[in-house]
Amino acid sequence: MAILVTGGAGYIGSHTVIELLEKNEEVIIVDSFINSKPEALNRIRQIANKDFKFYQMDICDKDNLRKVFEENDIECIIHFAGLKAVGESVKLPIEYYKNNIISTLVLIDLMKEFKVKNIIFSSSATVYGVQEIVPIKEDASLSATNPYGRTKLFIEYILKDLYVADKSFNIALLRYFNPIGAHPSGLIGEDPNGIPNNLCPYITQVAIGKLPYLNVFGNDYNTHDGTGVRDYIHVCDLAHGHLCALNKLRENPGLVIYNLGTGVGYSVLDILHAFNKAVGRDLPYKIVDRRPGDIATCYADPTKAYKEMGFKTEKTLDDMARDSWNWQKNNPNGLN
Ligand code: NAD
Ligand code: UD1
Repeated sequence: MAILVTGGAGYIGSHTVIELLEKNEEVIIVDSFINSKPEALNRIRQIANKDFKFYQMDICDKDNLRKVFEENDIECIIHFAGLKAVGESVKLPIEYYKNNIISTLVLIDLMKEFKVKNIIFSSSATVYGVQEIVPIKEDASLSATNPYGRTKLFIEYILKDLYVADKSFNIALLRYFNPIGAHPSGLIGEDPNGIPNNLCPYITQVAIGKLPYLNVFGNDYNTHDGTGVRDYIHVCDLAHGHLCALNKLRENPGLVIYNLGTGVGYSVLDILHAFNKAVGRDLPYKIVDRRPGDIATCYADPTKAYKEMGFKTEKTLDDMARDSWNWQKNNPNGLN
């Protein structure tokens, strides 16, 4: 039976597909390329030296997606497909609600129709909103501060309600912290459109000379050096978390929720120093005002994922910086 990966050409999806192929899982990718490039699929084949089925389609289109369910025997869905830019979601909220929520409802309808009972959903630490207590455990209160975050929160509730109504489903809600890094081959990595919003792609674009300097958003937070602290997780470790979740679902656990993070918080300056080391020179930066909506500190308590599904991160901050830089250096224009 096959694993259907929605959004498998994207950043986290492509790394996860490699993990799945390396474990001899049968993979089907569905992607519309709304935020990725067809070349990602060639790179996956090159790295894994294995093939998979691919359908180019918008998963909101139920009639089209039904063909994928008709033509394949699907064991589990790993549902990455979604729009993910916080700032854009504030400007285009309805597009975000439509794309992220309708696609999930369409998937669930087809799962019911074809009796596919297992789904792993890409949630985010964003569902924790603003938390006073760190590290954050899975039972912390939930809230969202922007339309993107609300799509994640609503989809979590939709999947929880589905499970309450029908206990034959197995559902994993995976709350990712801050994924960074790239595949060590340098063939796939994060490929943002335009000027990056997130810290690491911004730093690598400074290093490659596309941007003049890093803006450090505030150095007056209550943290060890005054800059914001986050839980950065190597995308290959994160990808591995999906294998752990897949194996967990094979035990028929019902609905499970896990943080995927390292449990360690690094500041913006810690990250910059790691990149300086990877690049081999000091990258320019300026301290500027805080970014509205940012919080001082956010990192995971990953113990539940460790205890219940054996998930453990292996990569260090130096690995993350080295692999991000390797990807950027080899692909200055991403996959264009
Ligand atoms: P990404 O944009 O690189 O990948 C998403 C993929 O889904 C893209 O290839 C895009 O073309 C595809 N897609 C989007 N809507 C689609 C649709 N309607 N039909 C078919 N394909 C569609 O993003 P990513 O960083 O790989 O994130 C994957 C998932 O993880 C997303 O749901 C995202 O919200 C979530 N997430 C990401 C982060 C992060 O920092 N990257 C953090 C937390 C959660
Ligand atoms: C952001 C999103 C979050 C999403 C996550 C991963 C917001 C408010 N939150 O989280 O929903 O899940 O990305 O995609 O947008 N920083 C700088 N300079 C920069 C960029 C960032 O100093 O140019 C700092 C930020 O202030 C923060 C840290 O770097 O302290 C990380 O920022 P970022 O990579 O954008 O991730 P988050 O804000 O944690």
